This record gives sequence, structure tokens and C-alpha cells, in this order.
Amino acid sequence: MLKKILGFLAATFFTFGFALPTIDNSTTTFVGPERGHLVIVGGNLQNDVIWQRIIDLAGGSNAPIVVIPTAGGEPSYNSNFSSAVTLRQLGATNVTVLHTYDPAEADTDDFIAPLLGAKGIFFGGGRQWRLVDAYAGTKTEKALQAVLDRGGVISGSSAGASIIGSFLARGDTANNQIMIGDHTVGFGYLKNTAIDQHVLVRNRHFDMFDILRAYPELLGLAVDEDTALVVHQNEAEILGSTYALIYDGGFWSREGSDLKNLPAANARFYFLKPGDKYDLGARKVIE
Ligand SMILES: *[C@@H]1O[C@H](CO)[C@@H](O)[C@H](O)[C@H]1NC(C)=O
Ligand SMILES: *[C@@H]1O[C@H](CO)[C@@H](O)[C@H](O)[C@H]1NC(C)=O
Ligand SMILES: *[C@@H]1O[C@H](CO)[C@@H](O)[C@H](O)[C@H]1NC(C)=O
Repeated sequence: MLKKILGFLAATFFTFGFALPTIDNSTTTFVGPERGHLVIVGGNLQNDVIWQRIIDLAGGSNAPIVVIPTAGGEPSYNSNFSSAVTLRQLGATNVTVLHTYDPAEADTDDFIAPLLGAKGIFFGGGRQWRLVDAYAGTKTEKALQAVLDRGGVISGSSAGASIIGSFLARGDTANNQIMIGDHTVGFGYLKNTAIDQHVLVRNRHFDMFDILRAYPELLGLAVDEDTALVVHQNEAEILGSTYALIYDGGFWSREGSDLKNLPAANARFYFLKPGDKYDLGARKVIE
């Protein structure tokens, strides 16, 4: 492929004497992971279909899966953290709970040992800034990226969904109502995005605009409870119980939009239901 592109560029250059055009990398850089998958859940994860998809994308019931409960803020965690128990009940045989609040510990080889062979990661809910304080910039963060690079899955629910975006929505340590808080950088497995959760159950559907007014280049994604975005490269599919909301400045409806009176582009959002697919690169519904 690269050879073909270089060949084309060389032919263009020598045939017409044009200066080499700027290489358009928009088709070679994906918004989501090039290898592996993301499963981004809007909180209150009950649906076995979503849990099962996480197990399947990790490689099946024997795949090593690491559950990270750190967002929850409890004084300590053991191997029976609820999400780990659920994964085991659904047949996953190799589930490890990994936790620290101490970035120095998160930066050690001993701590990251369970991540080195992992094919699946699940971040539990709570406050997303705790994940940043514990793991950002450490060996743990690198080892998490490596799970995707070897074709695995990174998943998370609620706070564990928001951490997957590049902009950290609701990252304030004071409370969960400040959309642009004292922590604004997520782990960025989904580039150029802000991810909100619990959106319909908690009537959060206008909150994303607090972020988009300040950062209009971001794609806003808000996922309702017990619902997931499953992402590979530029494709996101909605899975689970209710809806995901898309804030891309556009509008989409099964019945078209010609006869609708829509708000201004910077005040629009629209819903996608389970089975719908969205192109994160083109920022368009896949019809
Ligand atoms: C494409 O490449 C340019 C220049 O190297 C860089 O600034 C830009 O961020 C890249 N775009 C993407 C989507 O990665
Ligand atoms: C986890 O639960 C199992 C089954 O109930 C129990 O045997 C085990 O002792 C528990 N482990 C911890 C660390 O609490
Ligand atoms: C779980 O997976 C790890 C990493 O691949 C491996 O080292 C370990 O032996 C596995 N444990 C079980 C019980 O299969």
C-alpha cells in the first residue's frame, strides 16, 4: 500500500514536475484504535450482551482480562470486585483485579506484570480523575496501550468510559457536574473526543455543549446507561439497551431532516440506537 502511494507520488512528480503534494494522512490515522477494540459503556452495565462482547473481543473465555476498579475510590479492593465477579460468572476464567492510587507503584514492573499478557481491560465506574492521578504517564498507561496494539480490547463503564476519550469530560475533583474541570486529559484511546455517560437517565443531554463551546473541534459522544459504543478504527457501533447521542454539529434522522426546524449547528445532537453505525473519521452515520 505504502509502496503504491509512493509510486503514485513519484509518477506524479516525474510526469508533471509538480512539487510533492502534502500527504493526506486523514485516511491512515484512525480516530479509534488501528488494532483492537474499545467498548465504551454509559454506566449501570447490566446487559450480558455487552459483557459477552467484551469477553469475545478479548479472545474468548480463557483470555486474560484485567479489571481496574480505581475510579471507585474505595480504600482497598480485592479479587472479588463486582465487575470481575460478573465476568467470571459469564465464563471468563482468567480475570485479575489490578489497583493502586500510587503512581510510583503504577510505574513498577511488578505492578504491570498482569497487564503484559492481558487481552482485555475493564475500567469500573466512579470518578475519572482518580484513573489519571494513579496511572497517567506511568508504565501502566503504556502497558494498557499495548493491550490494544496486540489486538485486545479496552472497555470501561461510566468513569471508565470517559477516561477513554482524549478530552476528559467531568474530570473535576470537586464534583461530577463540572464539564471542564481540573483534570481535562483522558487516556485518549479515542482521539479528538469527549465522552459523557448516564446521559438520558440523568438528563445530561445539554451538558456536552459546555465542552464543545470551548473545544469545538472535539467530537462529543454521550452514551446512556447499559449501552455501549463498540469501536474499531473509524467505526463505532451502538450495542445494548438504549441510545448514544452524537454531537458532531450535524443532524441525522431515519425520517430525514428536510421538514424539520433544527437548532443552530452548535446546539444540535442526535440519537443512534443499538445496531446503528457511525463513521468517526467522516463524522457521519453509516447508512
Ligand atoms: C497529519 O500529519 C500532520 C503533519 O505531520 C499532523 O500535524 C496532523 O496532526 C496529522 N493528522 C492526524 C489526523 O493525525
Ligand atoms: C472471593 O469469593 C470467593 C467465592 O465466594 C471466595 O471463596 C474467596 O475467598 C473470595 N476472595 C476474597 C479475596 O475475598
Ligand atoms: C492468565 O493469563 C496470564 C497471562 O497470559 C498467564 O500468565 C496465566 O498463566 C493465566 N492464568 C490462568 C489461570 O490461566
